[in-house]
Amino acid sequence: MAIENINIISESVEKENALSSQSVKSNESVIVKSAKSAESVIAVSTTDLTVWFYERTGVENININIKKDSVTAIIGPSGCGKSTFLRALNFMHDLTPGAKVTGEIKILGKDITEFNGVEIRKKVGMVFQKANPFPTMTIYDNVISGLKLNGMHKKSFYDELVESSLIHAGLWKETKDRLKVSAYSLSGGQQQRLCIARTLAVKPEIILMDEPTSALDPISTGNVENTIHDLKKEYTIVIVTHNMQQASRVSDYTAYFYLGKLIEHGKTSTIFTNPKEKLTEEYITGKFG
Ligand SMILES: Nc1ncnc2c1ncn2[C@@H]1O[C@H](COP(=O)(O)OP(=O)(O)OP(=O)(O)O)[C@@H](O)[C@H]1O
Ligand SMILES: [Mg+2]
Repeated sequence: MAIENINIISESVEKENALSSQSVKSNESVIVKSAKSAESVIAVSTTDLTVWFYERTGVENININIKKDSVTAIIGPSGCGKSTFLRALNFMHDLTPGAKVTGEIKILGKDITEFNGVEIRKKVGMVFQKANPFPTMTIYDNVISGLKLNGMHKKSFYDELVESSLIHAGLWKETKDRLKVSAYSLSGGQQQRLCIARTLAVKPEIILMDEPTSALDPISTGNVENTIHDLKKEYTIVIVTHNMQQASRVSDYTAYFYLGKLIEHGKTSTIFTNPKEKLTEEYITGKFG
C-alpha cells in the first residue's frame, strides 16, 4: 500500500467526530456543549501540519489531537519526523535555515500564531535528549533560570518555586542539602531531572520531551519515567522515544510516524497489542526500524 493512501487513524479525532454527529441528532445546545467539552480536553491539535526544509518535507499533513493531562509517545524509525513534529509545537523551526511550517497548530484551543515566542515557551516547555543545565550555575539558579528573564521576584518566591519544582521533578531529596553547588556535580540522570525542574518552574501546560532518557542508565531512566508518570496529573506530555518498552510504560496514547507521515494514533494499549495498520505492526514487532 502506498504511504499516500494510508488512512490516518486518530482515535481522538474519531471520538470527536462521533461526539459531534451525536450532537447534531439532538439539539443545538448540546452541540455547543459538546464542542466546548471536546475543545477543553484537547491540548494540542494540528491540521495538515507540514514542515518544509527548503523543497523537502520533514513531516507532511499531520492531523492529530493530543489530549490534555495525558502522556503521548511519538515513535517511529530514525528520520521519520518525530523531532520535526515536536519542534513545530513551540516555534523551534523559526531559527532553522530553510524551514517553513504550513498548516494549523492549536495550543489549548488557540492558534499558535496568536502567541509570540516568549508566550509559547511559557505554555509549551521542552526537555532535550542531552541534559543541558547551565554549567556555571548552581542547582538553585538553574531551576529559576527560565524565570529571571520574566522579571524579578522576592527571594522567598524563588525558594518556594525551587523546592516545588525539584519535588515535582523527583530531585528534591537528592539536592535539598546542596542547592548552591554547581549543577555539574549531578549525575547525568539527575541533570536531566534538573532540566525537567527548570522546565516546570516556568509553569508550562504542555511539556515536550525529545528522547529524554536515551543517554541515561536504566536506574536514571526509571527515575525520569516515574517523574513523567507523576507529572501527567497536571501536565500534558509529548515524549519522543525509540524505546518501545518506555512508550508502553509511560504513555496513555501513542502516535506512530513513518517517512514523515502519521500512520496511526490511538491508545497505547491498542497500538501495542492490536494496531490497525500493517506498518505499525511491522514496526512494533521489530520487523524494521
Ligand atoms: N534542519 C534541517 N534541515 C534539513 N533537513 C532536516 C532538518 N531537520 C530535520 N531534517 C530532515 O527531516 C526529516 C525528519 O528528521 P527528524 O530529525 O524529525 O527525524 P527523527 O524522527 O527525529 O529522527 P531520529 O530518531 O534520528 O531523531 C529527516 O529527513 C531530516 O533529514
Ligand atoms: Mg529526533
